[in-house]
Amino acid sequence: MNCKVADIISKARATQHLTKQEIVSLLGDNDINDRLFAAADQVRAENVGEAVHLRGLIEFSNICRQNCFYCGLRRDNAGIRRYRLEPDTILAFAAKAKAYGYKTLVLQSGEDDFYTTDRLQQIISGIKALGLVITLSIGEKSRAEYAAYRQAGADRYLLRIETTDRRLYAALHPGMSWENRRRCLWDLKELGYEVGTGCLVGLPNQSLEALADDILFFQELDADMVGLGPFIPNADTPLRSAQGGSFTASLKVMAITRLLLPDANIPATTAMETLNKNGRIIALQSGANVAMPNVTEGEYRQLYALYPGKICINDTPAHCRGCISGKITSIGRTVAGDFGFRVKRAAAK
Ligand code: SAM
Ligand code: SF4
Ligand code: FES
Repeated sequence: MNCKVADIISKARATQHLTKQEIVSLLGDNDINDRLFAAADQVRAENVGEAVHLRGLIEFSNICRQNCFYCGLRRDNAGIRRYRLEPDTILAFAAKAKAYGYKTLVLQSGEDDFYTTDRLQQIISGIKALGLVITLSIGEKSRAEYAAYRQAGADRYLLRIETTDRRLYAALHPGMSWENRRRCLWDLKELGYEVGTGCLVGLPNQSLEALADDILFFQELDADMVGLGPFIPNADTPLRSAQGGSFTASLKVMAITRLLLPDANIPATTAMETLNKNGRIIALQSGANVAMPNVTEGEYRQLYALYPGKICINDTPAHCRGCISGKITSIGRTVAGDFGFRVKRAAAK
């Protein structure tokens, strides 16, 4: 093992600070992986404990006005059948999720203009009346819209920056601007949301330097939640022939994120399990402390086709709940009984 790289892990643990070059060294050295994952697991245990927070995911519309090059929901993809759920259906799914024991719901969709501020406020207040915590993941909006959702009771917002490499961002997001995405995240922070962000790992032409910048960006934002995973090529998109990201590279980015943001909530993502059948368990043992089982009912799970091979598309919410709980207890961890807000720890000097 390269001593210098091992020292970088110790420095990260002691100070929660690394330079970009130090992060690049960690990302570029695969001999230290076991040590990195063990360190991230320990930091996770010391700072956020053994309980795993479950967030029930409702994928309520696959209609999107954006055209991100990697995503199966992109506007120009004529290859999928589109759907959107009525507010009452979303509320019915939320009530069922509560009955399965979820305390937090993630409402995710494409950027679908059918859901006006009025409709969203109605959905949010209906779910809040059930006593649940709400994370929205519905893309880029104006500050006034974010303020209105917050006023209606939304607690958290998840918006991945996707990549901090401005040129790569511009190449993959026609008609969108990196600066606006960044603006959204800072608006959300200022409005009092718990803010989640994250990136895709293994995008075409993404360098280790760009991934290091992504991790430093999560720290700069002081993200309450960081969700990241491999880019998985989709045949219905312009990136159909791209190579895609690896499970190990994603796990490494996640583990370093845990070292630098010890008290953040970090999910073991669905995309990780798509590339490795034990992906979420391995992630939970390498720094993650959250899982987001799908609570969408019926055929909609299949139609929310971001990338091929997505897990759980033929399963029911009841089955997924039992499945994920079994996985968590099989590694000696517990399912959290609280709402799972981030508990901030004092930063190291
Ligand atoms: N429209 C909202 C947005 O973009 O923030 C939320 C829904 S979007 C489908 C959720 C996430 O899916 C994106 O942030 C992106 O990182 C991820 N995603 C899309 N296509 C993907 C792919 N081919 N492989 C892996 N993740 C993908
Ligand atoms: Fe739309 Fe989000 Fe997919 Fe981009 S990643 S096309 S914004 S659903
Ligand atoms: Fe859905 Fe395991 S979480 S089948």
